[in-house]
Amino acid sequence: MSSLSGVKVALFGSSGLLGDAVSRALAKRHHKSMRYSKQSTFGGAQALCLSNQEGLTRELLDTWPDAIINCAAISSPDTVIKDSSFSRKINIEGAVKLAEIASHLSARFIHVSTDMVFDGTSSPYRSTDIPNPLNEYGSQKLEAEKKVLAVTDENLAILRITLLNGNSPYGKRSPHEKILRSIQNGNPLTLFDDEMRQPCSSENVASAVVELLERPNLNGLFHWAGAEEISRYELGIRILDRFGFSRNRIIKGAIKDYHDSDSRPQHLGFELAPLVGKLTTNPSSVQEQIEELLLPEDLFRWHRQNADKPNVYIHKF
Ligand SMILES: NC(=O)c1ccc[n+]([C@@H]2O[C@H](COP(=O)([O-])OP(=O)(O)OC[C@H]3O[C@@H](n4cnc5c(N)ncnc54)[C@H](OP(=O)(O)O)[C@@H]3O)[C@@H](O)[C@H]2O)c1
Repeated sequence: MSSLSGVKVALFGSSGLLGDAVSRALAKRHHKSMRYSKQSTFGGAQALCLSNQEGLTRELLDTWPDAIINCAAISSPDTVIKDSSFSRKINIEGAVKLAEIASHLSARFIHVSTDMVFDGTSSPYRSTDIPNPLNEYGSQKLEAEKKVLAVTDENLAILRITLLNGNSPYGKRSPHEKILRSIQNGNPLTLFDDEMRQPCSSENVASAVVELLERPNLNGLFHWAGAEEISRYELGIRILDRFGFSRNRIIKGAIKDYHDSDSRPQHLGFELAPLVGKLTTNPSSVQEQIEELLLPEDLFRWHRQNADKPNVYIHKF
């Protein structure tokens, strides 16, 4: 990469919860991004399916980016189970193809992975700990990490992240958006109070991703998360409080009562060293993450009419 600013970046998954935040973080740092999604045109994204390996090669040889960032994935464990063979094409084969093309172009490659590569029995995890995924999504993401690392060990960073809070382009992908829509639909979510996570925000991770992009000396596999742990249920309660809904709008559950409890890691937390000492981005607290959450615009009217205390929430435009 010739310089640390004004880098030309091919950003995959730009219409997703994380990809959209990365897109904005790149613009803030004066990098130029070419954005790709599966089908969404959000933010000027071009539709290019990661299963189209010829299309990927043609596009990237034509545009010859300085860096490739992969935020694209089939990121819902339930969707991965429903079509595991197509998911493999995206989560594994697509990621490996991007790594190969990046290596060919001598472009920096940043790939995003997940805490779900661990089984949740010995948190907090370091990036050197042995993974043991409990579900197909975690297995696919782990296989992708291994295969991407086998392509090249230079000019490459893989960032494992945890449960993401934030505001997604269509207001449907993040935890608070799912909770609000479940209330709207009259199907309250059950959240587990023994399922511990260390959530981070899409904005904060995006800042870490852009720093990794700009620091070609940071290569290999890294962990990033928020500053604190919280149960999924407690996170749900904090979200209800933010938007002025009473606490009985979600149901408190326990993993052991879940029909497929063997596939859910109970406790996923990360040891943030060594990356935390090398970046200027600081892990965000749960409170900071909650304060960033916005009501999706299409829910404004419904919220005013249905929230238990609608005036608790003040929208920041
Ligand atoms: N969300 C979390 O809590 C979380 C936690 C840990 C790790 N991660 C990881 O973080 C990364 C980003 O996740 P996210 O939550 O931002 O995902 P997301 O909101 O579901 O967005 C996924 C993105 O990938 C694109 N995409 C999906 N299928 C594709 C395909 N076949 N070809 C090309 N692009 C495709 C989507 O495009 P369309 O919009 O057009 O469908 C979208 O831009 C993923 O690697 C995920 O595994 C996420």
